[in-house]
Amino acid sequence: MRILVTGGAGYIGSVLVPKLLERGHHVRVVDRMFWGIPHYAGHPNVELVNADIRRLPEGLFDGIDAVDHLAGFSNDPTAEFSPEANWQMNASATDTIARQCIAAGVRRLVFGSSCSLYDGAPDADTLLDESSPLNPRGAYATSKHYSEQALLAHAGRDFEPVILRQATVFGLSPRMRFDLVLNTFVKDALVRQRLILHGGGRMWRPLVAVQDLADAHIAVLEAPSELVAGETFNVVGDNYQVRQLAEVVAAALVRLGQPVALVDGPLPNIVRNYRCSGEKLRSRLGIDLPTTAEQAVAELVETYRSVPIEQLGHPRYYNIAWMQLLEEARPAYQATHHIFEPLED
Ligand SMILES: NC(=O)c1ccc[n+]([C@@H]2O[C@H](COP(=O)([O-])OP(=O)(O)OC[C@H]3O[C@@H](n4cnc5c(N)ncnc54)[C@H](O)[C@@H]3O)[C@@H](O)[C@H]2O)c1
Repeated sequence: MRILVTGGAGYIGSVLVPKLLERGHHVRVVDRMFWGIPHYAGHPNVELVNADIRRLPEGLFDGIDAVDHLAGFSNDPTAEFSPEANWQMNASATDTIARQCIAAGVRRLVFGSSCSLYDGAPDADTLLDESSPLNPRGAYATSKHYSEQALLAHAGRDFEPVILRQATVFGLSPRMRFDLVLNTFVKDALVRQRLILHGGGRMWRPLVAVQDLADAHIAVLEAPSELVAGETFNVVGDNYQVRQLAEVVAAALVRLGQPVALVDGPLPNIVRNYRCSGEKLRSRLGIDLPTTAEQAVAELVETYRSVPIEQLGHPRYYNIAWMQLLEEARPAYQATHHIFEPLED
């Protein structure tokens, strides 16, 4: 297939795109390249389009069989930083993409939504599934909810949106993020030898490994219509209490002779505490999401234990820090056009 991946240069996309290429698909990536040109650039079956999903270039959908939509602000802090830009990217642009798919005859669209739509559930006693009531809070979850509804409103014989409510992702990606709970713990354990557990770390969170998530996207892109068209699936490897995650990370470093202290901290202002079921995706498509936190932590520790500490704190690994730097640099960049090139006489 020819697959258009929006946001394909990001954390999830940088794992997904090479897997799609391995399976023989042709991939067109549309991305603002906030984190630079992805590592797979130059592959003969990949096309890169450096553009904003709010201003889709002419011809972007030509020859495309399916779309995987991942672009936009991808966490609460970036969405809260500019709620208006967030709404344009994470809500309105999705509706436009659906309309353009229909106009171009693209049937399948897989959307990278979020389990944060379940945030606000009264307690973590109930395992939430795709039919559980939603009460999304905040700019990010509200915009994702709008996108889901807009896509499903367009669903029909000629358009098959599939919603993937992704749990918080963990694990190694060529475009690494250290602002996701398990990855953050690995980084903090390496840098500070100390992990802070807000509210004692009792809160539950659904998680999924980035490799498994990419496999789920591919399974859904390739699945027959009768299994997935117009459906919503949670993508959850397992549910963990935050304290459990910290203990996994601490144990990995203790094995290397590096003790890590677990320190209780105050409850945060917004408490996220919910558990989600990934059963529908597993049973409908017969796929497994087998990677455990232990396995991913072992790989992350192995990869980053010899990296200088100051590099792990680089803003590029934290979406909000990096976006704020890009925003500060923008006027200067526009004035000079080529920051690192010498000026002509
Ligand atoms: N990582 C997670 O834990 C997680 C969990 C649930 C849902 N999601 C969703 O999955 C998607 C991908 O997440 P990620 O972790 O890879 O995030 P990411 O920030 O690493 O990737 C997003 C990509 O989109 C690009 N982008 C951002 N705004 C754009 C715009 N206006 N036009 C074109 N490109 C733009 C960025 O350059 C980046 O390459 C996001 O929609 C996110 O909300 C992520």
